[in-house]
Amino acid sequence: MANRILITGANGQLGNEMRIIAKSSDDSYIFTDVVQIDDHATRYLDITDIAALRRMVADEEINIIINCAAYTNVDKAECDTARATLLNSTAPSTLATVAREVDALLVHISTDYVFDGQGNKPYIEDDRTAPTSIYGGTKLAGEKGVINSGCRHIIIRTAWLYSEFGRNFCKTMINLTSSKPQIRVVDDQIGTPTYARDLARTIEAIVKHYDGSQDGIYHYSNEGICSWYDFARAIAELYGTTECEILPCTSDEFASVVKRPAYSVLDKSKIRRTFGVDVPHWRESLEECITNIKSR
Ligand SMILES: NC(=O)c1ccc[n+]([C@@H]2O[C@H](COP(=O)([O-])OP(=O)(O)OC[C@H]3O[C@@H](n4cnc5c(N)ncnc54)[C@H](OP(=O)(O)O)[C@@H]3O)[C@@H](O)[C@H]2O)c1
Repeated sequence: MANRILITGANGQLGNEMRIIAKSSDDSYIFTDVVQIDDHATRYLDITDIAALRRMVADEEINIIINCAAYTNVDKAECDTARATLLNSTAPSTLATVAREVDALLVHISTDYVFDGQGNKPYIEDDRTAPTSIYGGTKLAGEKGVINSGCRHIIIRTAWLYSEFGRNFCKTMINLTSSKPQIRVVDDQIGTPTYARDLARTIEAIVKHYDGSQDGIYHYSNEGICSWYDFARAIAELYGTTECEILPCTSDEFASVVKRPAYSVLDKSKIRRTFGVDVPHWRESLEECITNIKSR
């Protein structure tokens, strides 16, 4: 039987990638966000409004909720703590409550920022969490709220998300390397980028293979390891803005209110094993994204 899937935060990076996935799916999708975009057929739904959530889920007979909504401005969260907490901690619990009431599956997205980044081998799902930022702390509280609600849930921790939609590192680097003769990019933070299209494909595969026995936390990013500097160089090379000189620098050279994880590589064994998903190498996926950006 076809699923009836509610997407929240549908105007964000991941939400827009879910729209593309939905086009070739047999399931019925309803896309919602706090800003309605007519040409995208987005319906208004605020994830902090439990009455509106209940109404939407009941009226549309939703059996799967995919929460792509969040407070994602990591720096701003340090001073806008109340709003970050509302969206990243309270709202996921609210979604989980509504999901439990109708026995729906909640697919919720979390982050590598739940770890302190002091590790030196890929993080597995059971590794000790110790966020070093307000953003990471609010996202960890969101995970706990979902788990404690008792609803059916899949929590996916991802990292370094980028796509052709919204604001992200890849698009920023394209703009900077197209307009400046020289830039500096940090070389002492190591991780793996995640093309949001690959994450959306993974969510589709999870929805397809979910049988009620796989609830839990999963890690997903692309494969491979790089620094932001390596990532920036690959973006410039693939986009063709190689005249800009890209120089490596340390995190200390950038004034930031947030201590970002130095090491945030995620181990993807569990998601591969459980759902049989494909995890492309980050460079291969970057190539696909840049081809898509160029053809827009
Ligand atoms: N971006 C990353 O590098 C990264 C890394 C790791 C994990 N993640 C996680 O991945 C998920 C998806 O991230 P993303 O980059 O796709 O996020 P995004 O582009 O910031 O999209 C989030 C969407 O949620 C909307 N939203 C805000 N408040 C809402 C509310 N009250 N009700 C409904 N929608 C609301 C936002 O609208 P406005 O824009 O109008 O606020 C935006 O359209 C998030 O859970 C994020 O924490 C992201």
